[in-house]
Amino acid sequence: MPGLALVGVQWGDEGKGKVTDLLAEHTDFVVRYQGGNNAGHTIVVGGERYALHLVPTGVLYDHCTPVIGPGVVVNPEVLLEEMDSLEARGIDVSRLLLSGNSHLIMPYHLELDRVVERRLGKNRLGTTKRGIGPTYADKAARIGLRAQDLLDPKIFSAKLSVVLKEKNLMLARVYGRLPLDQKEIEVQYLEYAERLAPHITDTTPIIQSALDSGKSVMFEGAQATMLDLDHGTYPFVTSSNPIAGGACVGAGVGPRDISRIIGISKAYCTRVGSGPFPSEADPIDADVLVEAGGEYGTTTGRKRRCGWFDAVAARYAARLNTLSELVITKLDVLSQFERIKVCVAYEFEGRRYEDFPPNQTIFNKCTPVFEEIPGWTEDITNARSVVDLPAGARDYVSRIEELCGTPVSYVSVGPGREQMVAYGERSAGPVGAGAAR
Ligand code: IMP
Repeated sequence: MPGLALVGVQWGDEGKGKVTDLLAEHTDFVVRYQGGNNAGHTIVVGGERYALHLVPTGVLYDHCTPVIGPGVVVNPEVLLEEMDSLEARGIDVSRLLLSGNSHLIMPYHLELDRVVERRLGKNRLGTTKRGIGPTYADKAARIGLRAQDLLDPKIFSAKLSVVLKEKNLMLARVYGRLPLDQKEIEVQYLEYAERLAPHITDTTPIIQSALDSGKSVMFEGAQATMLDLDHGTYPFVTSSNPIAGGACVGAGVGPRDISRIIGISKAYCTRVGSGPFPSEADPIDADVLVEAGGEYGTTTGRKRRCGWFDAVAARYAARLNTLSELVITKLDVLSQFERIKVCVAYEFEGRRYEDFPPNQTIFNKCTPVFEEIPGWTEDITNARSVVDLPAGARDYVSRIEELCGTPVSYVSVGPGREQMVAYGERSAGPVGAGAAR
């Protein structure tokens, strides 16, 4: 049975956690395929709030096997802390599988992420400072250490000694920082190794045999399309591939193993960190969105930049991910506005762009073409079916479908699990039932 991929359509923080959580209830395997603890989602289950950064959502369900795939970068300290805190709350983490091929975030990666950002000054990317970029850079340079290296102290030590020499030179000579101590890192990481060893394995045959035996497998994207290293707003992107195609590489499955691709998008738009953001709202509207939407980062606590729904970016995401459907989250936040703007195109030097512009200069300097549509002011948090939504909200969702050429299957109207509106027969399949089709 082919799997299902769940991807962010915008710049991350679309509320993927809530949808993954709903899907996980009926899913046998949840596989993270990229990113690291730069991600974060908050999930409320049985009145309990869980903030997960690295461990896949599936861990919260006894029937589900959570998998950290080969494409993920792992800070073992953070992973163990997350496992401990889940265990302290009665969640069994023994089923967690960690790919031996996943790369390790090392202390020098954290240090480099911080000092490079500082050096970039006003050109900084606004990274989460979790060491993500430097770890993926070492992976590409083939000097990374992997989870499987933790299982062989000699190999770990030999690889570390090669790479640490270079990193220490860089830290000391370029950035004026103190060098890091090999022995200290070894002791620390070999302690992690002892605890992580039972979880480290080759995850790819396990996922393949799950798919072959008809089990449901969900590939859980972190970050989102516009932060994709190859297709996002480079250089203001993360260092991995959150798009659906990234699931094949990062989890080790073939393109034909994924048949349903759900794109998650907020009813408006947010972005953290630096970089162009054409549909960014004026400060007054942005503040309303920040407060009504609680737009502060789960991982860093940073206030998010807020804007209107960007249909150009969403169309681009629908194409890149071959989305089967869209789930729109936080529609209730827009109840604050009597009129709602939607960015339908960009304009640059007198030319209108309805498709994503071919180069960054246009994207950096374009102005948004907004369409203004009537909103609604009714409280929609208790809506459970399409007929419960006011006409303004229904029209808004229809306009999004039209602009993106993708059917909306579900609309979320609040943080609670039950606060979902199903778009009936137009949905490509029930969220929370038979997830992978
Ligand atoms: P990095 O992934 O920490 O290297 O950060 C690169 C860019 O991606 C920065 O603009 C971050 O703010 C952004 N970013 C990384 N992870 C997330 C996320 O989970 N949500 C939103 N933005 C993110």
